[in-house]
Amino acid sequence: MLDLRNVMSPIETANGLPNDCYVSGDMFDHEQATLFRNSWAAIGFGKDIARPGMVKPVTFLGIPMLMVRNNKGEVNVFQNVCRHRGMILIDRPQQLRGPITCPYHAWAYDLDGELRRTPHVGGPDINEHESVKHCDFPLVNVRSHVWRDVIFVNVGGTAPAFEDAASTLMERWQEFDQPLYHAGTDSSISFTLDCNWKLAVENYCEAYHLPFVHPALNSYSRLEDHYNIMDASGFAGQGTTVYQPQITADGRRFPQFKDLSSQWDKGAEYIALFPNVLLGVHNDHAFAILLLPDGQGRTSEQVEIYYADEAAIGEDFADMRATNTEMWRTVFAEDVGVVEGMQRGRKASGYDGGKFSAVMDAPTHHFHHWVAGALSVEA
Ligand code: FES
Ligand SMILES: [Fe+2]
Repeated sequence: MLDLRNVMSPIETANGLPNDCYVSGDMFDHEQATLFRNSWAAIGFGKDIARPGMVKPVTFLGIPMLMVRNNKGEVNVFQNVCRHRGMILIDRPQQLRGPITCPYHAWAYDLDGELRRTPHVGGPDINEHESVKHCDFPLVNVRSHVWRDVIFVNVGGTAPAFEDAASTLMERWQEFDQPLYHAGTDSSISFTLDCNWKLAVENYCEAYHLPFVHPALNSYSRLEDHYNIMDASGFAGQGTTVYQPQITADGRRFPQFKDLSSQWDKGAEYIALFPNVLLGVHNDHAFAILLLPDGQGRTSEQVEIYYADEAAIGEDFADMRATNTEMWRTVFAEDVGVVEGMQRGRKASGYDGGKFSAVMDAPTHHFHHWVAGALSVEA
């Protein structure tokens, strides 16, 4: 095990996480077995399984999982494996018209994971057998929770309930606890980053790089208009006090979230909910970003933009949505070079985790402190 005590030191004397946390396959395995397994990590979005019967497979921590929308509209997550001979059940996102049916011998499970049919299990045309009691072989459930349309799982099963684990952030953004509307492909952006997932979190948490990496954004949202956000429950980020909603030449705006306090007239916040979700809120739209590690040096980044009112996802706002998506695509694309450059930098054996600015890097240090704590648990 790495000695991470110095990472936990006060920011003035701390180093950042050492190179191994970014480039070592063993560390990556340890991280999956501790940090990711023990926390509430994100695996997908509710909008991808919007209607009852929609299913989407995903592999997380090496485990094939299946996200399912049941008939009551709730999200279930199961291990994507048949209880009979272990066949993968679903291999692509789809709308099911009936039960989850195994392609091998057609055992079928309902949308809540209960085993319902076992054709010929007792011999030809005998669909039951006393040794296969259906109630004993449901799909293996994965503990899950949906918040702000993000599907979280706690694979280890021992984390506090999501509402307790994330209570501080849920309270902070209580005003935004409103329906979110997603318009489809015009509001989705994907990147594949050649870097460790943590570098994407770290870069998201800080405003320090704004003048250098995002000159256009910085022209109206300057360094001095930002403040740091850190919370011991496991999040960090930044806020701005000069958010300006998009206004078209003919004066149109997106509908706003309802009954917001004046803080949000010009306020917006960008918070990483550890480990792998990046969230943003503004008075007229929000976004959620899912970081899925694909090995220690590669990360898939999925950005989904949501609006405050059903009208905003209609044809009348298509032009404004396109502008908004393009604006965010530009900003996030500007970040790719630095997160990938930092990954390459972590092959330099002389790098010792680095030296923080005690003022500007506080959210990054906060994240490193959290990571070091999460990694220090025995797998
Ligand atoms: S492996 Fe699924 S029905 Fe046999
Ligand atoms: Fe950035």
